[in-house]
Amino acid sequence: MKKPWYNFLYVRSALAKILLGIVSVVVTIAVLLFLGVIEEQRMEAQTANWDGRAIEKGADIYANNCANCHGLDGKGLPGVAPALNSKYFFTQRLTDVSWTGSLHDYVALTVAAGRPSNVNSQWAQRMPTWSHRYGGPFRDDQVDNVTAFVVNWEADALQQGTAENPDPWQPFVNAPTRAAGADGMAAVAEAMPEPTGPLPPEQLFVSMGCSGCHNLDVPQDANNRGPVGPNMGNLPEVAGTRVPGEDATTYVHNSIVNPNVYVNEGYMAGIMPQNFAERMSEEEIDSLVAWLLDPNRQR
Ligand code: HEC
Ligand code: HEC
Repeated sequence: MKKPWYNFLYVRSALAKILLGIVSVVVTIAVLLFLGVIEEQRMEAQTANWDGRAIEKGADIYANNCANCHGLDGKGLPGVAPALNSKYFFTQRLTDVSWTGSLHDYVALTVAAGRPSNVNSQWAQRMPTWSHRYGGPFRDDQVDNVTAFVVNWEADALQQGTAENPDPWQPFVNAPTRAAGADGMAAVAEAMPEPTGPLPPEQLFVSMGCSGCHNLDVPQDANNRGPVGPNMGNLPEVAGTRVPGEDATTYVHNSIVNPNVYVNEGYMAGIMPQNFAERMSEEEIDSLVAWLLDPNRQR
């Protein structure tokens, strides 16, 4: 009788059959394990990819919606909004506000709900509400993306605390930090000093945060618009020309106590704090105005 072509598949010995069975089971398990390992790496790569994309999308959202107040680099704008790209923010802030959840959730919730009230807040602006859930403009995925972008500053922020790279955080007036003297945090631990008597104008210019937004010694021109607000190098010459019928002293005084009444072309209203009249005495404001308009003041 002719043997069929698949005769080679016949295994006669019982031992060989068992061995073959064992070998095939082992091979199957090995293949499955191998696929499992590969899959895990593939998933990790995929997750990293997703995270990367969330951060990228978050960067756009941040630049268009948050940078005006928190600064393009997240280091805050004096008098406008606190720094987020800050060592203090990543290491101590949650303890100081007694938040027991993660930093990610703190950022996500603050972004979603905002801080609609600024009672007890040193910030003249309010942190707007962003999530659809609370009547804001963002979908949940947009809140997640901008949160991922903010949290991604951590590595950068943890390098801060040296003379070349100071922590840009500014103390919240009503929430003094408990991290007194912790490494690199000396500036943070310094509570805002209680004012005693009228301060001299050159000191007010710094302590009120004017110097963060205005260059004193650089003249205004279309090519150098200043850090946030107009340069003041030639303020004595231009101040009297801004508003018809308003002399320089009246104009500068009004610019400080009521900045939105006249907004310089090309600048945004609402950035300069609106509450200087409450934070300085009339005497201090007058001396600041006179000093800013003194053509011989230190430039
Ligand atoms: C109109 C100005 C303004 C805009 C725009 C703004 N913020 Fe804020 N933000 C603030 C102010 C002011 C605070 C501090 C509020 C307070 O607690 O008094 C703040 C607080 C925060 C905090 C909490 C900081 C802390 O230390 O507790 C986070 C996080 C934050 N903002 C993220 C964002 C993000 C992300 C965006 C963009 C989607 C954004 N902000 C847009 C003004 C702004
Ligand atoms: C957070 C940023 C910011 C701070 C802090 C700030 N300013 Fe301003 N300032 C602006 C901006 C933006 C403008 C331009 C928009 C406008 O005219 O209101 C401006 C305009 C002015 C002008 C009008 C300048 C011109 O050329 O017409 C004067 C004067 C002025 N600021 C004085 C001050 C003084 C004094 C302080 C501190 C007590 C101060 N500013 C603090 C942002 C700031």
